Amino acid sequence: MVQVASAAEIRWRSVLRSALPAAIFPPSTKPKTQPRPTMSYELIRFEVNDHIATLTINRPDKLNALNDAVMAELSSAVDEITARDDIAGVIVTGAGKAFVAGADIGELSKQGPFDGKARSVRGQNVLRRLETCGKPVIAAVNGFALGGGCELAMACHLRVASEKAKFGQPEVKLGICPGFGGTQRLPRLVGKGRALDLIMSGRMIGADEAFQMGLVNKVVPPDDLLQETEKMLRGIVAMGPLAIRLSIEAIDSGCDMSLDEGLLLEANHFGLLAATADMREGMGAFLEKRDPEFTGK
Ligand code: COA
Repeated sequence: MVQVASAAEIRWRSVLRSALPAAIFPPSTKPKTQPRPTMSYELIRFEVNDHIATLTINRPDKLNALNDAVMAELSSAVDEITARDDIAGVIVTGAGKAFVAGADIGELSKQGPFDGKARSVRGQNVLRRLETCGKPVIAAVNGFALGGGCELAMACHLRVASEKAKFGQPEVKLGICPGFGGTQRLPRLVGKGRALDLIMSGRMIGADEAFQMGLVNKVVPPDDLLQETEKMLRGIVAMGPLAIRLSIEAIDSGCDMSLDEGLLLEANHFGLLAATADMREGMGAFLEKRDPEFTGK
């Protein structure tokens, strides 16, 4: 009899294909990628310090509005984050008083239906690649996170907000709808009713309200924002990196599966991690009452 693979099994096979080389085959057979010098950027700053990359949207005179040039640099930065072995986690923030005040309205005002759609798809792809880069990404939201800025923050795995941060999806005020994933990620984060309220009213909310509805994970004084975000991220990257990666993947994919499919995905990830040196190290360290030293293998 012909066995037909379920959708969950097919998804699992693709996860296995991407995870196996790192998890099971000793990487010593391949030369380890050396840390590379950072590429040069003009509209973002990209700094790597002790395995943490900080990506700062740097167009403060326009409140870091995402024009096509910024999005192209962001796309290259995401490639760099994904490829570089010396980057374990990422902070995304904005220069000056804004995180990001949205897509660039000057550029949007000139678009027609086809280039408008293409811009939306390009932006969605960049944010999706950031979300699936395999490393934990935290947004440090320092000020306005509006439109594409709120969407960029939502594509990060966690959000830490300054008490001064403001969030919103004001696109309807301009006669458009969110285009970088806002209609999809916002309801997944805060529920359909709250997402409909925010998107249909276009209203701006403060950090406390964003925290209460689950849009942000933590609110901190403005002066502590980067330090608190880095502290949170360093806590995460001290865990087993493969365990973090597969946990993110299970939550990301599982949210769109039936419960049974999601549970199968989780069990498969759980089993796969049993093949890793990290699991032996994590449990060995607990039993020997010492701190673990994970290698991501
Ligand atoms: N696109 C392009 N330029 C933008 C922008 C955007 N999304 N958001 C702000 N800017 C520019 C302003 O045009 C201004 O440029 P200028 O000095 O050359 O005139 C500069 O950034 C500063 O903005 P300004 O409006 O003067 O600051 P503010 O503190 O008075 O107001 C905001 C801040 C965020 C409330 C206001 O800028 C705003 O509503 N921005 C648009 C938000 C939005 O609709 N985003 C979704 C886009 S799809």
